[in-house]
Amino acid sequence: MDINKNQKKITLAVPKGRILEELSPLFSRIGIIPEADFFDENSRKLIFNSNIDFLEIVKVRSFDVATFVKYAGADLGICGLDVIKEFADEDFFTTLNLNIGNCRLSIAGSQNLIDNNWQTKSHLRIATKYPNITSKFFASQGIQTEIIKLNGAIEIASKLQLCDYIVDLVSSGRTLKENNMIEIIKIIDVSSHLIINKNSLKNFNYLINQIISLFDE
Ligand code: PRP
Repeated sequence: MDINKNQKKITLAVPKGRILEELSPLFSRIGIIPEADFFDENSRKLIFNSNIDFLEIVKVRSFDVATFVKYAGADLGICGLDVIKEFADEDFFTTLNLNIGNCRLSIAGSQNLIDNNWQTKSHLRIATKYPNITSKFFASQGIQTEIIKLNGAIEIASKLQLCDYIVDLVSSGRTLKENNMIEIIKIIDVSSHLIINKNSLKNFNYLINQIISLFDE
């Protein structure tokens, strides 16, 4: 896909970290080839060109993918439902399910908890990266929550008795197991979706649709 040199570049934001392992075969299959060191976790580079003249790719933290798309720093983003649901529906369009990054967002607790019957409580203290999903979920169960917002390594909050439970992503279950914790109940299934800035879709419809059609294989 060639374009005039002065034409707008479409920016796709993707999350750093383990999702890149799944992104590599997906990009190959749909014909997006980023610059050489894109998949190198040690590279400090943040913005990458691609084989598509009008497409550049930025690697940012998972929550920042949604923030960049919301504020039009990026036109498109690859973003997990866990992050998407922390934002408001009107912040961006959520489109294709890319079927990568499959995991779940669950309540977990210490396996030494004598009383794991969270449903009978009227108030719980929860550590999580996901304050909105968490407070909504517990409110729907008639439970008030005090949320302790952390940015990572949530399991430590349970170990250090900072909270009654945690709400966090579970994939293989290894992190919970290695920290003597158990998954109690799943809140949502998570997979990565393509999100789109609303104005970009209006203003650069032709270019954006070319990229969407690649993902919509
Ligand atoms: C995520 C999540 C869990 C872990 C779950 O953390 O927050 O800690 O992965 O995966 P598992 O079930 O396969 O063990 P991540 O590795 O993204 O780092 P973080 O704890 O810093 O958020």
